[in-house]
Amino acid sequence: MEKTRPQWSSHISFIIASIGSAVGLGNIWRFPYIMGQYGGAIFLITYLLIITLICVIPLSVELACGKYYKGDPITIYNSINPKFKIFGIFCLITSIIIPCFYFVVGGWILNYIWIFLINNVPADFSQYFASLNSNPYIPISLTIVYLLFSLLFPFIGLNKGIEKANNFMMPLFGVMLLALAIYALTLTGAEEGLEFMFKPDFSKFSFEMILAALGQALFTLSIGIGIMMTYGSYLKKETKILKSSYTLIFFDTLVALLAGIMIFPIVFTNHIEPSAGATLVFISLPQIFKTLPMGNIVAFAFFMLLFFAAVTSGISMLEAAISCFCDYFKMGRKKASILLFFLIGIISIPASLSFGILADFKVFDKTLFDLFDYMTSNILMPLCTIAICFIAGWKTKHIQKEAFGESSLANVLSFILKYIIPFVLIFVLIMGLR
Ligand code: PHE
Repeated sequence: MEKTRPQWSSHISFIIASIGSAVGLGNIWRFPYIMGQYGGAIFLITYLLIITLICVIPLSVELACGKYYKGDPITIYNSINPKFKIFGIFCLITSIIIPCFYFVVGGWILNYIWIFLINNVPADFSQYFASLNSNPYIPISLTIVYLLFSLLFPFIGLNKGIEKANNFMMPLFGVMLLALAIYALTLTGAEEGLEFMFKPDFSKFSFEMILAALGQALFTLSIGIGIMMTYGSYLKKETKILKSSYTLIFFDTLVALLAGIMIFPIVFTNHIEPSAGATLVFISLPQIFKTLPMGNIVAFAFFMLLFFAAVTSGISMLEAAISCFCDYFKMGRKKASILLFFLIGIISIPASLSFGILADFKVFDKTLFDLFDYMTSNILMPLCTIAICFIAGWKTKHIQKEAFGESSLANVLSFILKYIIPFVLIFVLIMGLR
């Protein structure tokens, strides 16, 4: 058991690590294609309104719970009321299941970094991607390598592991993203790409788009898993939560926008569908990279970018689970990491095989990979977000004070927390289950 609770060594380290958690595959891969699906600029405006007015609230509440109760998610829910402990357990389950599919994608990223590094680039990426996944050993081994690498930092500890990893990877990530975005702006499709992103077409407005924007905002802020509770529990007393939340939202959104600025010019220059989805990153883009000036270097930098984004998010998921094992189940950090390694390592095998020999094995009509994604993104995460908003809005005034401070803005936020968010989220949860 850890005797004294570790603390962030500085406020900036906390901000960098939280940005590291928030900025992930969701920003670089999911945000551009969801924006593509829902009409570009009009989606962006809706998204900005939702993230700054609504999602800032559960984010602040989660951080405040951690800061106030100084514990892992299970301990926090249990301290508020033992009746709520189940939500802490859901958080633990979610933080174990998400890596089981997220890290499979991490394994693919490693594979792509390798082929571009050694310059062994296939002629046809759609064939290549299919054959990569029909081989059972390579993707699983890469998933395990990825898991080991991400787990190394929580295993070492907060200050020497998690902080150091984020402080190293995130600035590098920022520089590379900026360089790639500037590069994309030199391409012929840049103008069309920017127009798509920033010139709203109001006819594309739809109710479904609002739901998509909300879902994306919750996912990108890593809300509903207990990560922000865990990171908040390492905060010092003086930290102002609301200000930190807005800082985090600012940078997270900036990264998503830069990712769009990097991807849409490439997409429009080459006349592919901006809404191409999962295949965009692993099939369409690499195919295009080959034809671009300095294509191999660009491709290598792009996959390194994805790698940093996914590792720093992965670290935060693992840390949320480890903190439950250490605090609630009173395990040592090293033992907890080893247990987690076996749990995730074993469960991710069938998720990885979902793209190969287990492609036809379906539960509720979904492959295991999709099932894990669906269970966490559409059920467990919204459920835990609703729970914490209800609890903070209706049962714990002190958490509201910790989260929002004591201004007139705080009153407005408390009102939204109590009367609007839980009901909107319940609606979203039900729509997501259809
Ligand atoms: N926020 C991360 C992203 O945008 C994903 C994530 C989800 C990380 C849930 C942790 C927990 O990719």
